[in-house]
Amino acid sequence: MNKYRSVVKLLKKYNQEQVLAFYNTLPKEEKELLLDQVLNIDFEKLISLYNEFQKDVSYTDAVITPLEHVEETKLSSYIKSKYVKKGEEIIENGGLAVITLAGGQGTRLGLSLPKGFFEVETNPKKSLFQIQCETLQIANIKYNTVIHWYIMTSPDNDSITKVYFEDKKYFGYGKENVTFFKQDTLPVLDFNSKLILDKAYKVKEVSNGNGDVFSSLQRYGLIEDMEKKGIKYVFIGGIDNILLKTVDPLFIGLCDIGNCKVASKTITKNENEKDEWVFARRDGKPSIVSSKRITKEMEDKKDENGKYLYKEINILAHLFSIDSLKLCANIDLPYHLAEKKNDYLNDEGVKIMPKSPNTYKYEQFIFDVFPYFDNILLLSVKREREFAPIKSFTGIHTPERALELYLNERRNSIKG
Ligand code: UTP
Repeated sequence: MNKYRSVVKLLKKYNQEQVLAFYNTLPKEEKELLLDQVLNIDFEKLISLYNEFQKDVSYTDAVITPLEHVEETKLSSYIKSKYVKKGEEIIENGGLAVITLAGGQGTRLGLSLPKGFFEVETNPKKSLFQIQCETLQIANIKYNTVIHWYIMTSPDNDSITKVYFEDKKYFGYGKENVTFFKQDTLPVLDFNSKLILDKAYKVKEVSNGNGDVFSSLQRYGLIEDMEKKGIKYVFIGGIDNILLKTVDPLFIGLCDIGNCKVASKTITKNENEKDEWVFARRDGKPSIVSSKRITKEMEDKKDENGKYLYKEINILAHLFSIDSLKLCANIDLPYHLAEKKNDYLNDEGVKIMPKSPNTYKYEQFIFDVFPYFDNILLLSVKREREFAPIKSFTGIHTPERALELYLNERRNSIKG
């Protein structure tokens, strides 16, 4: 059967014939691109995701118990210095790499360029990429090393991000010290379970969540590359937290001496974060659980030292040993559903930017690997020192608020 007829048959089977709305008007090469893309879509997977999320899957039967955490502020300077020393040793010996997750769409900010290009109103202005780069440069000087910087992009923003780094001369970091790798995508579905068009010859596909970092690292052979470089731990964090502490010897030392393969930084939930998922054990395994599973009684529960048991939340600041990365790369992670704004071509071929979410996006998250480990180290840190994310122009994670936190932290660290 010829390619076109196979595609028509496939689209008919899954009720998606709208994908060919402009096919007859396309030049030959674009026709080919569209046909090839459709043949590569895993329709069964999409349908099962769509159907799965019509049911409520919130682990309602699971037993929830506390997951112990270390509070940074409660560690004595004597204890701290032992861990810091170990962490410093690892960094100085080239044992740390940093991965920046920059494959997201940034739909809440509604920018036309990748989120990492977003300029914060420091004086002079600095992009999110530049801010992360400077944190690494300061650490390189302090520890007399060069920390290899891995950046995860998406098929949508990969080339433009590389051009941007060329233009900025890699902010002086050295092209040889930066490795880009692309994550995977999945088509989005509109609320009637239909595929939408990004271009007349292209079905809209978007990045499939930051949990794809593990299989993408594996696909690019980067875990072996890290091993060859002598890297022992990899810090993974988001692009949008301008106080992200990518290089923290205490965190690394605690993880290493504690013999943990995975560690995660947390902050203690506040009034604005009622709906945030919290760290806990689900059926005995480290997890992040929905706030719906935490009763008022659990929320108020403290241990014998007065520490809240169910209030630690995720700030997307994780540490993985190389061994654990290998394991994670082979985990078949579940998907989470998000309703997102995605532009599309309407029936007249006009690009429409919706004002409210119009599509279902399916995403894998890093935290779903946690239950595969018996223990993970949680380090609860001071929010004002390490958490200033930029997510949206309204709400609590605005650029203005993040800048205020960033400048405060800079002033405080200068004061010591
Ligand atoms: P967010 O969950 O804030 O998503 O990502 P986002 O795509 O940046 O923004 P919205 O939700 O569409 O407004 C947290 C971090 O994970 C990365 C983002 O780049 C950010 O650093 N991420 C997210 C990826 O690398 N890939 C993804 O598929 C999703």
